[in-house]
Amino acid sequence: MGTGFAGNIIVVGVCGSIAAFKVAGWVSTLAKEEARVPVVMTDSAQKFITPLTFAALTGESVYTSMFADEHSGAMSHIELAQEASVFLIAPASAQTIARLAHGFADDLLSTAVLATRAPVIVCPAMNTRMYQHRATQDNLSRLRQLGYTVVDPESGLMACKDEGPGRLVEWESVQEVLWRSLRSLDLQGEQVLVTAGPTREPIDPARFISNRSSGKMGYALARAAYRRGADVVLVSGPSTLNCPYGVRRIMVETAAEMFEAVCREFEKATILVKSAAVSDFRPAVQHEHKVKKKNGAPALELVRNPDILYEIGRKKRKPGQLVIGFAAESENLEMEGKRKLQRKNLDMIAVNDISGSDTGFEADTNRLILLTGDETIELPLLSKSETADRIFDVLKEKFRSSPLS
Ligand code: PMT
Repeated sequence: MGTGFAGNIIVVGVCGSIAAFKVAGWVSTLAKEEARVPVVMTDSAQKFITPLTFAALTGESVYTSMFADEHSGAMSHIELAQEASVFLIAPASAQTIARLAHGFADDLLSTAVLATRAPVIVCPAMNTRMYQHRATQDNLSRLRQLGYTVVDPESGLMACKDEGPGRLVEWESVQEVLWRSLRSLDLQGEQVLVTAGPTREPIDPARFISNRSSGKMGYALARAAYRRGADVVLVSGPSTLNCPYGVRRIMVETAAEMFEAVCREFEKATILVKSAAVSDFRPAVQHEHKVKKKNGAPALELVRNPDILYEIGRKKRKPGQLVIGFAAESENLEMEGKRKLQRKNLDMIAVNDISGSDTGFEADTNRLILLTGDETIELPLLSKSETADRIFDVLKEKFRSSPLS
């Protein structure tokens, strides 16, 4: 999947809120990615930011009135509604949210939204107390019932000095929702469970055994599954990465904690992708206090951790439940992969070449060989995000020839 928005018509509805200036940045990004970005502004929006700003950023007429004739050559509001790939209303004020919830068509934005069949994404931004008011919350519930996607605002200090929810969500989250609304949701109905990152096995309160996994591969898998319509749970060892938007993340530290979380979540999962780098061993003793060097170098006795994937692979699966493993290898890639595929009773294994600096641990790119019982698919060097999509493409093709009921 390309990551751009090129070729799509993303109609942006801007309402009256100080956060309107942030949306100018979003519009600029979308326009640079070669999306068409017609902007519709409510009357109050124009008190905060001028139509000229958006016109300059998009190279398009800005729509400010239902009856204005200044849009000669531009789309009418009905054309806007029909041509849109998606409607993005940001910042969405309490007033516009109320209008949309009740089906009013008394300004250009509400009329166009009523007339569209494209997905509608609503990003509220307003004073905390206005946001929390029962009337606004009821209106947002109504929008969800109508099938609109509401992207909850963030909490923090507001321009009016109040603190709480109401701040316009960040672009990174909106981007995810836009991607999900623009692509075909071929994983809709799937409950995807992904593991990512390393585990940490404590020696004492200061030290642990771990490995170089950053979580990038697993987080890319979780993000890709969400974008393709799945419900996603990410069980993550320690990682500095932000939780991908729309994904439920469970943070764990040790292999034992990961084991417990995976077994519990696997009950509801239709697909498990186990990209975490789990420590095979842990110290036999975890010291309560920091081990002092004055006592000389201590012997570190290790014991085996449970092999989570092996234990899951042995369990009886529900019909259609898929288990995908990873194998980090620097030599005999295919042979090692086949051995682990069989021993752990997997549907597929992604053998990760970790011999170069551009593949495997910490890198932004990756090179995998996908092995199923009867097929070997060599993927080229790709970004981890493209690699994740290729894995799901293969899963769809091989194991989901008919949609899940
Ligand atoms: O996180 P990044 O920096 O992006 O790096 C990505 C990665 C290199 C960690 C990832 O792509 C990868 O290869 N993950 C698997 C690493 C690994 O632990 O490989 P393994 O061959 O040791 O284990 C095989 C499989 O068994 C894996 O799916 C692993 O999750 C699982 N396993 C291993 C040991 C154990 N005790 N329990 C397990 O479930």
